[in-house]
Amino acid sequence: MLDVFKTSKKKKENKEIVLDQNNIPKHIAIIMDGNGRWAKKRKLPRTMGHKAGVETIRRVIKESHILGIKYLTLYAFSTENWKRPDEEVSALMKLLVEYLRSELAELNKNGVVIKISGDITKLPKEAQSEVLEAIEVTKNNTGIVLNIAFNYGGRDEIIRAVKLLCEEVKSDNIKIENIDEKVFENYLYTKNIPDPDLIIRPSGEQRISNFLLWQCAYSEFWYSNVCWPDFKEEHLQKAIYDYQHRDRRYGGV
Ligand code: FPP
Repeated sequence: MLDVFKTSKKKKENKEIVLDQNNIPKHIAIIMDGNGRWAKKRKLPRTMGHKAGVETIRRVIKESHILGIKYLTLYAFSTENWKRPDEEVSALMKLLVEYLRSELAELNKNGVVIKISGDITKLPKEAQSEVLEAIEVTKNNTGIVLNIAFNYGGRDEIIRAVKLLCEEVKSDNIKIENIDEKVFENYLYTKNIPDPDLIIRPSGEQRISNFLLWQCAYSEFWYSNVCWPDFKEEHLQKAIYDYQHRDRRYGGV
């Protein structure tokens, strides 16, 4: 058993959460929601909420590493988020660039592997090159996989996979009768990443919002009313604690 509260002083208040180290979810995926409401409550522009959300990203990656999570997927920009005001879209692109610029060396030092799920060809050139560099620099690392879902949509991902598979069939590389779930998964952005065991959504919303639609088939869901900028290490621990007390049957008995 892992006493997570040995990891930092702050956590001493909450001694009762003890995690089973043999049942840490391998892959946690998070819908980082509530930045706008967090900012509104403080009479700040929405973009300040996103900025505060980046601080939470730092905390959550560190804690995930400490807890032994192998894959962490963060939903940072959806295929639907282009509908937001131009100013907010630009601010999110800028935050991605700034985050990778300021964090890449440290992430790399800690063995983090950066992956992206989503169509990055639609991002501004500057963001594309930061993303490609981060992927390249960290590709041989062996630590936690940080999968950033950016310009990601579950439906878009499935359609893309279908199109890629059709091309393979057309070129006689694959026979239709040989297409099964395992084959299909090789055409998703998440190729080589196991399905998320646990999906976390803060801010009180209880929707999937086009996130990992194929991959979430047997994920456990965990919700919290706290907005993403206020999401702390203890929320992650509580989510894992609750996960460890679920009965995952995968359709069996
Ligand atoms: C949802 O909250 C949040 C987003 C659409 C953006 C999340 C992005 C970040 C936290 C930072 C940028 C990413 C990286 C990887 C540096 P919302 O704006 O929909 O909140 P609301 O529902 O309260 O309005």
